[in-house]
Amino acid sequence: MEEEHLEPIAEISRRCFSKIYVFDWYENAGNMLKLFKQGKVVVRVIKKGEVVIGFGNLRSWPGGGWIDLIAINPEDQKQGFGRMLLADLKAKAKANGYWKISLIVSASEKAALSFYKRNGFVVVGEMVDQIKRGVNGILISCIIDYELHPNQD
Ligand SMILES: CC(C)(COP(=O)(O)OP(=O)(O)OC[C@H]1O[C@@H](n2cnc3c(N)ncnc32)[C@H](O)[C@@H]1OP(=O)(O)O)[C@@H](O)C(=O)NCCC(=O)NCCS
Repeated sequence: MEEEHLEPIAEISRRCFSKIYVFDWYENAGNMLKLFKQGKVVVRVIKKGEVVIGFGNLRSWPGGGWIDLIAINPEDQKQGFGRMLLADLKAKAKANGYWKISLIVSASEKAALSFYKRNGFVVVGEMVDQIKRGVNGILISCIIDYELHPNQD
């Protein structure tokens, strides 16, 4: 992530998530850049030519890695870009030593859940989403590499 990605990331977030929950997406993108500069989060963008059409992030979590957001511009969805971005985040997870990655999908986001299931995630259980307050969340995980599990000899 670079400074120049702030605006497109905020705009893609606004377009993709505003219907799901209310947030200051510009402030959120700014916070993401700050954490990225501190090495606390991986942020990846995907471009068509020179135009940023999507992004995703990944950070450390006690049980491996955690994805907060993945989004592809509405007009660029269903062309395989989401899968490419997720594959890239999985590679980053492996490079960072995360044996699995997890995230919460809102119970109402059926298309997102289907997308993740097709890309190797399984449902772990239900949990309250602390960010999207009041929304039922479905916790999903994908094992990246069991060799990286902390209990391995
Ligand atoms: C979820 C999201 C990131 C997926 O991105 P995407 O670019 O549409 O993902 P893909 O194109 O790789 O796959 C999406 C679907 O399109 C289909 N598809 C992929 N390439 C295709 C093509 N060339 N033609 C037709 N369909 C295609 C895939 O089979 C897939 O189907 P599935 O969802 O039933 O598995 C995107 O829909 C999004 O940004 N949604 C809003 C934000 C969101 O909910 N994010 C997830 C929670 S953080």
